Amino acid sequence: MAVVVKATPLTFVVHALAVACAVMVLVWCIHFRGGLAWETTNKSLIFNIHPVLMLIGFIILGGEAIVSYKSLPFKKEVKKVIHLVLHAVALILGIVGIWAAFKFHNESSILNLYSLHSWLGIGIIVLYGLQWVYGFVTFFYPGGSSSLRADSLPWHVLFGIFVYSLAIANAAIGFLEKLTFLESAGLDKVGAEAYLVNFTAIATVLFGAFVLFTVYAQKDQEPEEEYSSYSAI
Ligand code: HEM
Repeated sequence: MAVVVKATPLTFVVHALAVACAVMVLVWCIHFRGGLAWETTNKSLIFNIHPVLMLIGFIILGGEAIVSYKSLPFKKEVKKVIHLVLHAVALILGIVGIWAAFKFHNESSILNLYSLHSWLGIGIIVLYGLQWVYGFVTFFYPGGSSSLRADSLPWHVLFGIFVYSLAIANAAIGFLEKLTFLESAGLDKVGAEAYLVNFTAIATVLFGAFVLFTVYAQKDQEPEEEYSSYSAI
């Protein structure tokens, strides 16, 4: 007998953690790191766009796209459009966020793509884009046959969970990497800013965990016997 977990309470936790993550990364980048700017002589402000867009734009909007089938009270067709639009916005903001990291490196004469974080990051954004295009063509327009859609769905869910989990892990690596750079340059290892960055990373991991729990939880209107078969699309 399966343990039945209802999705709605989990989606409330997802939204609450999203707000907590967004506030923490903004306080870090604006209050502690001096703010955000695209064109400036203070190149650190260009870098600050990267964590803000990767966390709020890519991770949080991507997570909200994943849980939208469970968190919204609309018909399946409407939720499908919301799901694909939120993922598209997350993808675009993720690309701009990565562009900001490249811009910061180029204008500060720092090498590009030297770290594990950057290699995983490129892989994640490419796989996320491929997943979006395959999902769009198969489930939305022009749309595959019903057997192709049924066969593709479990792989869409599994691949989506894999790429999203990698993104959460890579965001944690990103926070660790930046904090290590700052501490090497003299930042107090047990000061307020170091704690804030570590707690932001923990909140990000918890957010990702609750997004994934929600995927496996039961939709409120779903009969218990259909719970084991994933039928969101
Ligand atoms: C899933 C989310 C993320 C992805 C896909 C991602 C991707 C990337 C990529 C592709 C680069 C390379 C830019 C270049 O070589 O010019 C980069 C750089 C960087 N990112 Fe992220 N990032 C993410 C989240 C974060 C977060 C939340 C932080 C926290 C501060 C962060 C910190 C850094 C740092 C310090 C660099 C410069 C050093 C390096 O290239 O490794 N990243 N990121």
